[in-house]
Amino acid sequence: MNQKLYMVSLGPGDVELLTLKALNVFKECDAICVPTKSQDNSFEKSISYNIVMSALDVLEVKKPIVSVYSPMHFKYEDWVNEAEVILETLGQYEKVCFVTLGDAAIYSSIYYLLDIIKDKNEMIYKNCEVIAGVTSFSAASAVAQKALCLGDEELIIKPINPRSAVKRTEVLMRPKIGMDTKSLGEGDFYTFENMYLKDAKITPSKIEKVKKYMTLFINFASRD
Ligand SMILES: C[S@@+](CC[C@H](N)C(=O)[O-])C[C@H]1O[C@@H](n2cnc3c(N)ncnc32)[C@H](O)[C@@H]1O
Repeated sequence: MNQKLYMVSLGPGDVELLTLKALNVFKECDAICVPTKSQDNSFEKSISYNIVMSALDVLEVKKPIVSVYSPMHFKYEDWVNEAEVILETLGQYEKVCFVTLGDAAIYSSIYYLLDIIKDKNEMIYKNCEVIAGVTSFSAASAVAQKALCLGDEELIIKPINPRSAVKRTEVLMRPKIGMDTKSLGEGDFYTFENMYLKDAKITPSKIEKVKKYMTLFINFASRD
C-alpha cells in the first residue's frame, strides 16, 4: 500500500473558508481522522467535525470518519495516542486525512504529531502533505474590515498563557530587488520565491541577494 497522510487545515469555522485543495483531498481520501475533546469519542462538541461534515455535503460524498481523542492538555502521551490512531487508520486505508482548525501553521498539534509519526514510520512522514488554510485572525480581520498590517506596521501573534519562555518566528516580507540580506540577521531561515507560480523556489536558508519582489523569508523559532 502506498500510504499517504494529509494534514488538512479547515479554516476558522465556515465551510466556505475551506480551500479547494482541502476539498479535493477530502474527495480523494479513503478516511478522515477528526479530533474530538470528548473522552467517549463522540463529536458532540467538535467544531472540526461540523466543518468536515459540511464539506462532505458540499461534495456529495460520504467518507469513513475516525474519531481521534484530543484532550488538548498539551501532553506528550496524548499526542502519541493521537499519532497511533492516525497510523492505525493508515493500516486500514491508503489515503488518510487528519484535520486541524484554522491554519496548520498556527498553534496546531499537527507538528507534534508529525514528529512522533516520523519516529514511528519515516515513509509516511516523508509522504505527508500539509494543506494550508485560512487563519482565525485573517478571517477576523476580514469580518472587522480592518487590515492587520499596512505600510510600515508589523504583526505580532502571541500566546496569551505561555508555558515557558516565549520564542519568536519572524516573517519578513516586501524586500527590495537587489538588496543584500545580511541585515535580516541569522537563524533558521527559509526563503520562498514565487511560491505556487512559475519558477517557484524554496531554499532552506537565507539567499544572499533578493532577485524577485515575490520573495518572503521566514526565520523560524529555534526548536530542539
Ligand atoms: C489552538 S489555536 C488554533 C489556531 C488556528 N490554527 C488558526 O489558524 O487560527 C486556538 C485559538 O485560535 C483562535 N481561534 C480559532 N478559531 C477561532 C474562531 N473561529 N473564532 C475566534 N477565535 C478563534 C482562538 O484564540 C483559539 O483560542
